[in-house]
Amino acid sequence: MILGIESSCDDSSIALMDENSLKLNYFSKISQEIKHAKFGGVVPELAARLHTKALPEMIEKIKPYFSEISAIAVTNEPGLSVSLIGGVSMAKALSISLNKPLIAVNHLVGHIFSVFLDKKEIFPLGVLLVSGGHTLVLDISANGKISVLAKTDDDSFGESFDKVAKMLGLDYPGGALIENLAKNCDGNLNFTVPLLHDKRLEYSFSGLKNQVRMEIEKAGETSQSVQENIAASFQKTAIAHIMDKLSKIYEMKKWQNFAVVGGASANSALRTKLENLANKYGSTLHLAPLKFCSDNAAMIARAGVYKYNKKEFINYKNLDIVPHLNYENFKI
Ligand code: KG4
Ligand code: ZN
Repeated sequence: MILGIESSCDDSSIALMDENSLKLNYFSKISQEIKHAKFGGVVPELAARLHTKALPEMIEKIKPYFSEISAIAVTNEPGLSVSLIGGVSMAKALSISLNKPLIAVNHLVGHIFSVFLDKKEIFPLGVLLVSGGHTLVLDISANGKISVLAKTDDDSFGESFDKVAKMLGLDYPGGALIENLAKNCDGNLNFTVPLLHDKRLEYSFSGLKNQVRMEIEKAGETSQSVQENIAASFQKTAIAHIMDKLSKIYEMKKWQNFAVVGGASANSALRTKLENLANKYGSTLHLAPLKFCSDNAAMIARAGVYKYNKKEFINYKNLDIVPHLNYENFKI
């Protein structure tokens, strides 16, 4: 089995996946969300401390499986450096003591494999990656080369949900809370879709966030129905922005296979729009199970299986953590 370890942000997670059948034999995740909620975002020093406590306890539980481990796959980039170091140190220690090879997994590559958890991967593939840290449209070639076709200039899609939630006095993370508030409301506020008449294929969510801030200030005390209207109008505009640029790229690429991944890919309004777009081009839309949209070690173990089969191992002395996405070295 491949042991997957994930600790790039505020989730400690481990998974054991059979490298032949792709069966997920063991999965566990301890989310720190509640601990960070009162601060309105992830506090790195607290995240690091919680990983250091959680990971050894989690590893203790899989001791009976140690003899069945073939390799150890761990997220080493991108993410909060003080969080990444927890998982990477644990992986190095296990690799040395169990004498098993190490596999370095890019967190975003892990997210891409979340749609192939129990099936063979498919490339070429178009990808929309929407998480708390990134908003990317990717084109993955048949041989696994990743081209970045669009990215955000400022906030990410998920982050903008978190910031709007904070302005509305809701907890962190705000994505699911905003979606829930927006559920029964059409949203009649006319927020401007960012970069609508701009030819550049890139995203920007900070202007929309400011429009929301001004609306909240104008409304003063926000009742439930005002909150619902703001959440629904914001969500509609943020998704319209995603779809505006993505439709233009899709028209050029006409992907046969397309995946949406990352924590915010759980958003059902976004999923519906993407289903319509994929249908329009007769392409297959690949989605991760809701449980595995947000950060988890199952996707890291799955990417680990792919790299294990290609014998892409790394010596522990060369395994470094990389906090920011390295576009030069971004490949499957
Ligand atoms: O992939 P992820 O778990 O962590 C990162 O790698 O960043 O993504 C977390 C992000 C958060 O910003 C969260 O608010 C957002 O995903 N998110 C959502 C939804 N569920 C989670 N955003 C919009 N709608 C949702 N239903
Ligand atoms: Zn993530």
